[in-house]
Amino acid sequence: MTPIRSDILALEPSGIIKVAQLGLGDPGIIPLWLGETDLVTPQFIRDAASRALEDGRTFYTHARGILPLREAIRDYHRRTIGAEISLDRITVPGAAMLAVANALQAVAAEGGNIVIVSPVWPNIFQAAKIARMEPRLVRLEEDWNAGRWRLDMDRLFDACDANTRALFLASPGNPTGWMLTADEQRTILDFARKRGIAIIGDEVYGTLVYDGAAHAPSWLSIAEDEDAVFVINSFSKPWAMTGWRIGWLVHPASLAVPMVAMTQAGNTGTTHFIQYGAMAALSAQGDAFRAELLDRCAKGRAVVDDFMKRQGRSNNRLRWMKPDGAFYGFLNIDGLKDSLSFAQDMVRRAKVGVAPGSAFSMGDPRDEAYIRICFAQDAARIAEGLSRFEGALAAV
Ligand SMILES: Cc1ncc(COP(=O)(O)O)c(C=O)c1O
Repeated sequence: MTPIRSDILALEPSGIIKVAQLGLGDPGIIPLWLGETDLVTPQFIRDAASRALEDGRTFYTHARGILPLREAIRDYHRRTIGAEISLDRITVPGAAMLAVANALQAVAAEGGNIVIVSPVWPNIFQAAKIARMEPRLVRLEEDWNAGRWRLDMDRLFDACDANTRALFLASPGNPTGWMLTADEQRTILDFARKRGIAIIGDEVYGTLVYDGAAHAPSWLSIAEDEDAVFVINSFSKPWAMTGWRIGWLVHPASLAVPMVAMTQAGNTGTTHFIQYGAMAALSAQGDAFRAELLDRCAKGRAVVDDFMKRQGRSNNRLRWMKPDGAFYGFLNIDGLKDSLSFAQDMVRRAKVGVAPGSAFSMGDPRDEAYIRICFAQDAARIAEGLSRFEGALAAV
């Protein structure tokens, strides 16, 4: 007899990690498996954090983040989406994953479930299980003719019952790049309000959108101060800060005080000097860097798109739906039945790292036909990775 929860003992690393473990850090491999750019965090952000460290900013801070950082976040939302978010609603608990965990803990209840739009980044359904919520995945559907992923609203709402505590939607999504429209958001918010269901909106790729718009439609533009709406944001992706582990949560205003207790019970707030780096990221210089990174991603996306068009012309087995946002290609391989073995094989034989589609769902066979690549990288390296991939694919 062990007192350890059997569902905890049954947890396994995600399929992405099972592949990356085969060669993370090996310079001979082109790594397209993880969700990060190849750029180092910009110098001005590193300098701001170093200066803060030199100045002795090494003590505990306000558990929800230092005031000037929360003010900078408020100003950022004002200038990117025109939303007025009160400081009571902003918490910087540590990494964005801690923001997800806090939101889940704020709504979890014994016997509760959470309806999650999938394919989805696996840490989300893992975190739901750890918070003792049953994850129910509602899969987006391929519309190959329109070249877009689609959310069937009826299926989303039908998946909810009296025990549903929250809906989780990442938009732009990882791995699909799918984006909710503002109309869909309003319909979902109406439904959630009527049914007393929380919304957890993951907007960590909110500014990484292509073809014109500056920001994906945001829940923050339509939610009132007291709606049970939680929005997750991160410094990781737009400012190339994945290793810093800092992000933020926008939550209902009434959670201002409880969030102090929650973050104290979690990480007792964020590393002090890191918060100064984050403040630098939110400056005008940070806006300029975001634009640069977006441009790099747009170029990466174009490289993948050209490659896929050539595949289409040669009647090959590969196709994709060009993503509207985020920085991933979710590539469909006709006839593929076991994406994990395939991705592991690609590392060994072709020296290219890709993430298996199966990682992004909980056993849906449709996702076995996919692999994910990250295109937030140098264009020449992506092209080289794709050509290695193409060569190895021909032999499978
Ligand atoms: C959809 C989504 N949400 C949240 C995160 C977590 O971001 P962070 O690394 O800042 O915790 C990621 C990271 O890949 C992600 O893809």
